[in-house]
Amino acid sequence: MTKQVPTKVDMEKIVSLCRRRGFIFPSSEIYGGLSSCWDYGPLGIELKRNIKEAWWRAAVQERDDVVGMDTSILMHPQTWVASGHVQGFSDPLVECKVCHLRWRADELQENICPSCGGELTDPRQFNLMFKTFMGPVEEAANEVYLRPETAQGMFVNFANVLTTTRKRLPFGIAQIGKSFRNEITTGNFIFRSREFEQMEIEFFVKPETDKEWFDYWLDQRRKWYLRFGMKEENLQLRQHAEHELAHYARDCYDIEYRFPMGWSELEGIANRGDFDLKQHAKYSGKSLEYFDDETKEHYVPCIIEPSAGVDRSLLAFLCDAYTEEPDKDAVRVVLHLHPSLAPMKVAVLPLSRRENLVKLAKDIHAELRQCWMVAYDDAQSIGRRYRRQDEIGTPLCVTVDFQSLEDNDVTIRDRDSMNQIRIPIKELKTTLAAKLSGEDILVLPPGGQIWKSGENG
Ligand code: GAP
Repeated sequence: MTKQVPTKVDMEKIVSLCRRRGFIFPSSEIYGGLSSCWDYGPLGIELKRNIKEAWWRAAVQERDDVVGMDTSILMHPQTWVASGHVQGFSDPLVECKVCHLRWRADELQENICPSCGGELTDPRQFNLMFKTFMGPVEEAANEVYLRPETAQGMFVNFANVLTTTRKRLPFGIAQIGKSFRNEITTGNFIFRSREFEQMEIEFFVKPETDKEWFDYWLDQRRKWYLRFGMKEENLQLRQHAEHELAHYARDCYDIEYRFPMGWSELEGIANRGDFDLKQHAKYSGKSLEYFDDETKEHYVPCIIEPSAGVDRSLLAFLCDAYTEEPDKDAVRVVLHLHPSLAPMKVAVLPLSRRENLVKLAKDIHAELRQCWMVAYDDAQSIGRRYRRQDEIGTPLCVTVDFQSLEDNDVTIRDRDSMNQIRIPIKELKTTLAAKLSGEDILVLPPGGQIWKSGENG
């Protein structure tokens, strides 16, 4: 097995790989792009879907105390008054009097423009919510906001979910969806953008149990990243200092990832107390109390909120998976993505474009794609094709050669070890399924044999 050399991942390499292989493009690129908005290409969308699917599985499918929702992006404007966003969802903005660039005052080391050294204006609060108008008349009465978090859609549906699902506390609501923030400083690729996707759970608990559920969710969420292959040494927890806490939070931890630009927030886990339900009850005039059948009490539940970013998770999984490994005279770029996250699970590679070989390879491809996303590549040498699949993280390649026409055997090559086994085509689907679930490549099905070990080609 090839020794993996730890790579100091630099963001430029990730951006370049994403651009080159069709993971992520700048939005509206032919018009020069739109600042900090991104388009996910054919491979990026698969990776993104897999991350969301892995999250949904752990958050909803595998639990009996969390249900899913998909609430609308546009909400009644009073929602944002009640939530505190109209009043307080802002950053202190300063402008350079010389070059007119704008900066977040709290991120500056010195009181001068980082770009030209010019004098800065006094800070003023800048609300991060995007405004638009509902209906044909553009006037204040028709102003609505694009949501800056998915959470509020779940809070305002607390009573609906409670009565329709007959859930008892503790229980949660989970949602994946787009959020929008008119961020002053963006950058670091998809780390901070103005349109992004969140994966949030709002977990409603009895007030006196909030601390224990908070610890529980911290642990669960950290383990989720490890379950999908993220390296433990690249994750850390950081508690918010008093002055950092959002207006609604009693306590908050960030799960931080060691991104190329340094340790930064990947996910926030907050104890929101009873702030949100009380505020929405007050502003809507509807009771959002819970009746506890055991104690016969009415009370407002507390909320524990694990809130993750899809795009940030995707960036972290990419950085974590990226390696450059010595390969004869060259370098092998490999994305060691967890098989559940890899955009393509398998690639089918006919050794040549000869008609009878292509027919067999295409038949195999057609059958396998019933189960997984499967690539098909017949261009250039087999070694180059393996490298192309390594670079996009495809865990397994199936090679169809001339002997396959005679003996109905094919080879499977493992991305990480580069070991190869040769197995009967009739064993292919079950063997691939076992390997994708974590079975060692060298465990053989009936009729299988070890073919080549650790060679790229
Ligand atoms: N409902 C709580 C909430 O929204 P947050 O810490 O502001 O909390 C949660 O956001 C997560 O959403 C962050 O940890 C991050 O992963 C993601 N996120 C927030 N702002 C983002 C941005 N501008 N671009 C990309 N992801 C962002």
